[in-house]
Amino acid sequence: MNVGILTGGGDCAGLNAVIRAAVKRAEEYGFKVTGIRYGWSGLMKPDTVPLTFKQVSNIHFLGGTILKTSRTNPFKHPDGPKLVLENVKSLGLDALIAVGGDDTLGVAAKLFKMGLNVVGVPKTMDNDISSTDYTFGFDSAVNEAMHALDSLRTTGESHDRVMVAEVMGRYAGWVAAYAGIASGANLILVPEEPFDVEDVVAFVRGRRERGEKATLIVVAEGAKLKNFPKAFVEEGKVDEFGHVKLGGIGQFLAEEIEKRTGCEVRHAALGHTIRGGQPTAFDRVLSTRFGVKAVDLVKEGKYAMMVALKGTKIVPVPIEEAVSKMKTVDQELYDIVKALSY
Ligand code: F6P
Repeated sequence: MNVGILTGGGDCAGLNAVIRAAVKRAEEYGFKVTGIRYGWSGLMKPDTVPLTFKQVSNIHFLGGTILKTSRTNPFKHPDGPKLVLENVKSLGLDALIAVGGDDTLGVAAKLFKMGLNVVGVPKTMDNDISSTDYTFGFDSAVNEAMHALDSLRTTGESHDRVMVAEVMGRYAGWVAAYAGIASGANLILVPEEPFDVEDVVAFVRGRRERGEKATLIVVAEGAKLKNFPKAFVEEGKVDEFGHVKLGGIGQFLAEEIEKRTGCEVRHAALGHTIRGGQPTAFDRVLSTRFGVKAVDLVKEGKYAMMVALKGTKIVPVPIEEAVSKMKTVDQELYDIVKALSY
């Protein structure tokens, strides 16, 4: 059996650990593994590399992906899906493991219906894929963000400043919520709960009146204002999945707070610094478990399924179900976010 593996969409920490684990398990079963480079693009215009465990045994701790990635959507290219299916055949691939977020997995679900034997692995720093408790890449991003926020706190405290940090995470507030809680941020703003600038200003003023001159605020890039229910866009150009580049809410908020309170305010957009870098131990283990289980599903012929973490177990769930709905911050976590603002 020849199993292809590709990584699509934005990279995140843990992709290499999935690849390594999948190759190891595949070799155990006597399968060959073909790495597809640059996501779906590498199947539209074949770009592949044979993978052996000897080559990949030492990549689990590396960030990014040795297979490279792209945000290519075959369904946006004339004959794209047909090309993918033809190339899968000509490359002699019996099955494909697609490692990606909702976009990559959405393509996988559609291609399954056209005859592709595909298994999915959920990756994204955003943690917004349904049917799994966590995606890999999320914990690493949260840890990177937490360290950055810890640093912003000490410099902010030293200068009695308000520090506003914007974190990625698209339209879900998971990274902001987790990193904010972990770093003890004073206020956390997530897309799930649009906010009023006046309330933030009152919050900062209230702290100053209590003698708390420094304030650390974490705002998700997708956070929205109550009176303007659209996320801030840094660049309107859409990619092949229809996504714009979010960003700018942190700067906007910092300027508004400074203008309305007269406090000294600084802002930082953590951006890609929290997506790159080495995976945490949690992500290395989760990625490894996902990679092994994905090959097991291929062996069992359980296609159109995605590996998922449910509680402490890795289980198969239908890809289609996982990508049907974005997983956002739930009320229980949001209550904790609110309870911890001070
Ligand atoms: O989906 C992952 C993510 O990192 C989002 O949090 C962010 O909005 C987006 O990708 C950034 O995309 P790009 O790397 O294309 O700028």
